Amino acid sequence: MHISDHISIAPLQSFTDFRFRKAFFQFFGGVDKCYAPYIKLTNQKEIKKAQQKDILIENNPIMPVMPQLMVNSADDFLMVANYVQSLGYDEINWNMGCPYPMVAKRNLGAGMLNDPDGIDRLLDDIFSKSNIKLGLKMRMGYESTEEILKVIPVLNKYPITELIIHARFAKQLYKPSVDLNRFEECISISKTPLTYNGDLNTVEDFRALKERFPTINNWMIGRGLVKDPFLAQMIKDDTTEYPEDRWEIFKKFHDELYEDYASVLHGDHQVRLKMLGFWEYFSESFTNSHKSFKRIKKAKNIYAFDQAVAENFDIQMSL
Ligand SMILES: Cc1cc2nc3c(=O)[nH]c(=O)nc-3n(C[C@H](O)[C@H](O)[C@H](O)COP(=O)(O)O)c2cc1C
Repeated sequence: MHISDHISIAPLQSFTDFRFRKAFFQFFGGVDKCYAPYIKLTNQKEIKKAQQKDILIENNPIMPVMPQLMVNSADDFLMVANYVQSLGYDEINWNMGCPYPMVAKRNLGAGMLNDPDGIDRLLDDIFSKSNIKLGLKMRMGYESTEEILKVIPVLNKYPITELIIHARFAKQLYKPSVDLNRFEECISISKTPLTYNGDLNTVEDFRALKERFPTINNWMIGRGLVKDPFLAQMIKDDTTEYPEDRWEIFKKFHDELYEDYASVLHGDHQVRLKMLGFWEYFSESFTNSHKSFKRIKKAKNIYAFDQAVAENFDIQMSL
């Protein structure tokens, strides 16, 4: 860990919203920046209320957030950029990484990556019409990681603030391993400052990545921080030791998140489903991940759910 290393929370749609971010900073640290999950216009060219709310300054009191959009035209870009600027932001991040076919086939997200000329035209249009600062987040391609080698020379022509690279191609979704050789190639050709993203889940992962890419100072972590919210601070402290009251802190964080969702979601069923989503990740830092998650999944009402949560923490704390 070097003093110049910065860690950001990745945008994870339906996980890292402002309620998660607020609870996170109440109990954990080590993060320098947060990226909000993407804003996408509806068919009526509107921004959904929940997406508007997510980036309001008053909902992000502790840690400033970087808004993100996912669009495929200059007009849509300007609509979202104007909204974001009206709130006081001077920069936005563009999602060119979302891998899902429903998105990609409409030329959104990673669907743009095999058309570098299209990206060039869009950037040219946007930079001539807007003064908002622009960063990008992308996969290395849609069908293969080679695609990014044709995209980077286009990006080099523009004053893009940062390029966050999730080191996979889109069709891989989230499973096959990241392509570090290709990331190394990106470093050698990119004039835009790079941020590394993808499968950074432990302090050891960080140490290995930093050793391999010593010139990279910006690191984005998504699922790793939901699984283990202590991770960023431990990377910063260069330690693999958890605080003694690790599980007490985790439980307080869990309960804060739960209470906050319970205060806004409609009914126990929704709260349980929301928290079940988190448990898919949380359970991975429990000693017996599979059993912990199974216990939660089996709970079919909120009382059983609360009991399963208590049991998971009790078992963990008694080890
Ligand atoms: C459930 C989920 C939702 C995601 N939502 C977004 C999003 O809104 N915007 C975005 O740029 N990436 C999104 N991603 C991708 C992550 O930001 C990140 O690039 C990816 O998970 C790899 O990083 P990680 O291995 O640290 O999680 C999402 C990923 C997941 C698993």
